[in-house]
Amino acid sequence: MSGFNTSVTTQLTHPKIILDTDPGGDDIYAFLWLLGLVKQGLAELVAVTSADGNVAAKRTFSSASQILNLVGFSDIKVGRGVPLKEEIVEDAGHIHGSDGMGNLSHTLPPATHNFEEAHYSDEIIIDELNAAPGEITIVAIGPLTNLAAAETKSPGILKKAKEIVIMGGAFFCPGNVTPHAEFNIWFNVEAAQTVFDSRDDIVVMPLDVTRHLIFTREMTQAVTQANPESKLSQFLIALCEFMIGTALSYRETAGIPGLLVHDAATLGYLFYPETLMLKRAKVQVETKGEWTLGQTSIDSRPAPKTGANAWVALQVDEGKFFTSFVEDLKQLFTTAALS
Ligand code: BDR
Ligand code: CA
Repeated sequence: MSGFNTSVTTQLTHPKIILDTDPGGDDIYAFLWLLGLVKQGLAELVAVTSADGNVAAKRTFSSASQILNLVGFSDIKVGRGVPLKEEIVEDAGHIHGSDGMGNLSHTLPPATHNFEEAHYSDEIIIDELNAAPGEITIVAIGPLTNLAAAETKSPGILKKAKEIVIMGGAFFCPGNVTPHAEFNIWFNVEAAQTVFDSRDDIVVMPLDVTRHLIFTREMTQAVTQANPESKLSQFLIALCEFMIGTALSYRETAGIPGLLVHDAATLGYLFYPETLMLKRAKVQVETKGEWTLGQTSIDSRPAPKTGANAWVALQVDEGKFFTSFVEDLKQLFTTAALS
């Protein structure tokens, strides 16, 4: 199958991960999946670097702290999002709630990480990659501001990551924030281009695959059924309902009651690579277009080309993907410590 590869790398040991995130309802599903994998000893979470995106940086920082506390990982450090050069034109609070958590943050234990005293996310990325060159995988599920800031401050630093897996882009399907652009890329186009220029093997989970990933109410019930009264279960059930509401009103799921778990595709790639098909390509980001700002494109013409910089997922086996996702979440939700 020329041009296709079912798995770019084989993870023989458990990966060490920095999660760069802007919670976000679907970020939280991905976050919990990752924590479930950590609990099973299949991954190590080195740090969470929060970012401006779905909602403002201060809020995404608190959300990251609250999720870590809820699942018993309060000792993991959280970075504060690098300030944006320009004021935010539009966030995604209308999809994820004004707190990015379906307006449910008040139901969770409070944040214990201190925003004012926290290191900036780009500093954490630089320090951790320098401390363990070639060992750390960056999973980036928000706008790429922090990664780009690290690369600008310390040119070549992103090459020290073992791998960079991002959720972003839309190639052969419509965008979700404009007709042509996907939110994470559109939010900070220069940052996205900087990341694609930083190395030649960025792994990309675009809308082409994530728009097929509908996490249903039944799946949430299956995950929470062992311990439905726990704070964590109650939170996930309510978050799922909130996200179903916005997904239906924005017609994201063809009328199916569920939410698109875009960000979780990154973990599908890392831990269940047999669920995805990826294509080698040179990804370009439209950084100036009047109507197409944030569009991502790859050249599929049958002519020789050089300079590929990415592996782009274009097909997903949803059945296999959700089988593993739901089972891993069940493991987390049945852990006794979660009262
Ligand atoms: C991406 O945008 C955000 O709203 C989601 O959390 C996801 O990372 C999907 O386009
Ligand atoms: Ca996100």
